[in-house]
Amino acid sequence: MPAWSARSHVTGGRKPVKELFGKLADGTEIHSWSLANGGTRMKVLSYGGIVQSLEVPDRQGRYANISLGFDNIEDYVARSPYFGALIGRYGNRIGKGRFTLDGKTYQVDVNDGENSLHGGAQGFDKRVWDIEPFTKGSDVGLYLYCTSVDGEMGYPGTLKVKVTYTLTKHGDWRIDYEATTDRTTVVNLTSHVYWNLAGEGSGTIENHELKIAASRYTPVDSGLIPTGEPAPVAGTPFDFRRTKAIGEDLREAHQQLLYAKGIDHNWVLDKGISAKPEWIATLKDPSSGRTLRMATTEPGLQFYSGNFLDGTLVGPSGKTYRQGGALCLETQHFPDSPNQPSFPSTVLKPGVTYRSTTVHSFTR
Ligand code: BGC
Repeated sequence: MPAWSARSHVTGGRKPVKELFGKLADGTEIHSWSLANGGTRMKVLSYGGIVQSLEVPDRQGRYANISLGFDNIEDYVARSPYFGALIGRYGNRIGKGRFTLDGKTYQVDVNDGENSLHGGAQGFDKRVWDIEPFTKGSDVGLYLYCTSVDGEMGYPGTLKVKVTYTLTKHGDWRIDYEATTDRTTVVNLTSHVYWNLAGEGSGTIENHELKIAASRYTPVDSGLIPTGEPAPVAGTPFDFRRTKAIGEDLREAHQQLLYAKGIDHNWVLDKGISAKPEWIATLKDPSSGRTLRMATTEPGLQFYSGNFLDGTLVGPSGKTYRQGGALCLETQHFPDSPNQPSFPSTVLKPGVTYRSTTVHSFTR
């Protein structure tokens, strides 16, 4: 019996419900929106478009929140390593935070050693988004809007962004990103959910099994900036073409793993850029049976094995998050693309709409 049919009794999308989550220091109210459809439940914050919780059942039908986060706004503002957040304008790193467009060099905010990470210190993860709920046919969801003005974090052009979070009747979570600009700029939007399919705070993800449809990855230097030449995964710890436990090769003394304290790399997806989302990865927790399948239009996938979680953050379960307590699978264009002419382009020109879609499907 397909996993979905066992869950069909919980199908039925209701209009998302809004409640107060907390206030920023300046008094701005941050709301939490609750959505449920097809057996998946999620809570989304107007701060950062953050997925504050995402719950799906295990093979016994028991629900767990499988995404790391906090139960209060203060922690999100003060110390979140992008838990559940929307990332922009540029997901991942730009070397030295510098790039040249149409002969002009731009310096964007440097917030990760000498590099820029995830759009700079005040990226989209720290913005308050305007949210509009919707129900459409059997779908329920949220439209999230934000405008980033010309020069914000150093990026050229006023960027208007619309992100759509949809929960389908099958319990799939779909993200559609759209953006337009009034000056030539670069854009690379993604979502930074930290997955632990056994439940947040429940331990390591090293037993999770992962498959990635990619024969190459982009090796990096010690600052995690790609060297520019994609390398084959064959014969390396980066080979996830066949399903493999994440912990299996994680302790190999491979130079790339040493640089990142584990895995923190971009996979060059075999399918390349696609007009429609195509399957790229499957993550499974054998103990609960919970399985996440991802499909995307993007050419790259950053797999980050939660290397920098160090036991200092406490999740809603009251448990601390330690190294490997979750992993991120960020669909995207490749890191440092603005400085890498051989990578697919992240340039957006006026009159063109940036579009990107990623679908997360859950089974058990
Ligand atoms: C990056 C990591 C970074 C993490 C959160 C990931 O997307 O690849 O290097 O530490 O985000 O801070």
